[in-house]
Order: sequence, then C-alpha cells, then structure tokens
Amino acid sequence: MKRKKIIAGNWKMNHTIAETSGFINEIKGHVSEISDVDIVLCPTFTSLQTAVNLTRDTIVGVGAQNVHWDRNGAFTGEISLAMLLEIPVDYVILGHSERRQYFGESDETVNKRLKSTLTTLIKPIVCIGEKLGERESGITEKVIARQLNDSLNGITADQMDNVVIAYEPVWAIGTGVTATPDQAQEVHAFIRNLINEKYSANVSENIRIQYGGSVKSSNADDLLSQPDIDGALVGGASLDCSEFVKIIRSAE
Ligand code: 13P
Repeated sequence: MKRKKIIAGNWKMNHTIAETSGFINEIKGHVSEISDVDIVLCPTFTSLQTAVNLTRDTIVGVGAQNVHWDRNGAFTGEISLAMLLEIPVDYVILGHSERRQYFGESDETVNKRLKSTLTTLIKPIVCIGEKLGERESGITEKVIARQLNDSLNGITADQMDNVVIAYEPVWAIGTGVTATPDQAQEVHAFIRNLINEKYSANVSENIRIQYGGSVKSSNADDLLSQPDIDGALVGGASLDCSEFVKIIRSAE
C-alpha cells in the first residue's frame, strides 16, 4: 500500500499576518503542479484565517498548532474546535514537545484533545518523541510506547483513519542535530508495529508517520526515502519558502 506523503510546516510562534500572506503568495507558484504530496502550513492562531483564505484554490492545507478539548468556557488563552471549524482548518497539531515542555501538556491532555478533535473532520497530528536523556538511557522504545498508548487511549480503529503521528525526538528539535535516517526509521517501524498490535495490520499500513527534528532540504531526501517515514513536520526550515519547497520536492 502506498501512503501519500505529508509535509507540514510548523511555524511555531513565527510569522505575522503580513508575513504569512507574503509566504503563501510566494509558495503558490511553486506547488501548483504537485498533487502526490499533502502540504500543510501551521501558522499561529492569528494567521489562520489569512492562510485559509489565501490557500483556498490551492492544494495547500492549513493546520492549527493546538486546540482545547472543551466546547467553550473559562479557559483563557485557549481555542476551541468550533473556532477552528469556522475558519476552517484541515489539521491540528497535538502534543508538540514544546507544549509538553513549557505548557504542562501530558499524554492525558493530548488524549482529551485528540478525542474531541476526532468528533470533527479536522485531522490531528499527534506528536511523540523521547528526550536526549531517555535515548541515552536506552528507554526510547519504552517512552514512545507509553506516549502512543496513553495518547491513543480509547481511540477506535475507524477513527485512526484521520490520525497522523509525528515522531519528533526532542533532542533533534531546533538543535541542528537530526536523527540519522536509520535511527528515525527504527523508531518509525517500532511505532507502526505498536499500531499493528493495538489495532490491525490494515490500520498500521495506512497510518502516516511523519518525522520531525531539524529536517532541511539537505537531509530530506535521505529521511523521506525510508520505508516507514511518510513525511516531515518541519520547524525552522519551513519558515523559508524556497527551503520548504525543496523539502516538498523531496517527498514527490
Ligand atoms: P525544527 O525543524 O526547527 O527542528 O523543529 C521541528 C519541530 O518541532 C516541528 O514540529
């Protein structure tokens, strides 16, 4: 089975509305002939509407960087699914390691966000990944298994159709240190095997697992040619249009 590659740019807290417009107007001309890759931009909340308006007639999808699980209420600084659906966005990133590190995100809250998101047609990108100390102590698989199991708690095989997993080793994020293609492939195969055990061969063969962590045009070919790497979640290199387009081309 051939899984369609998915290249997503996680802009984190970068690009104003004006910068978002400039980027999208530039990228439009480069992606009009691409059809065999899913391309997603994840700007900040304030730029989402602009991004959706400007990408309307293109193949570029738009994702948010987080969403709350409750419908509405007293949650200062949070955004609801109804708000994202009104824009409307196609994807939402859940459980990014920066949310875990700085904002108290846990597997339990990722699971709540995921369950709510899956009541809509917005596709969640669920992030997991071990820290440097965990890798060095040889517990990478244990950490990944716990994060995956707890995040997916109560999610059915049918719901998994809409889920994308992003493997992002924390030690490779924003550090310039990329996991080698072999290191990444090893964990991706491990994740696919866990999904096979938890669900079925069918679910595990269909699910897309992106790699994230210092992906750039110079390493994208090698990473994306691994059998279990189905795309990339790109941080820093997605802020530069020509660099991001090169990464998309690697996925073609
Ligand atoms: P970098 O590509 O900047 O390492 O960030 C990766 C990331 O966190 C994407 O979500």
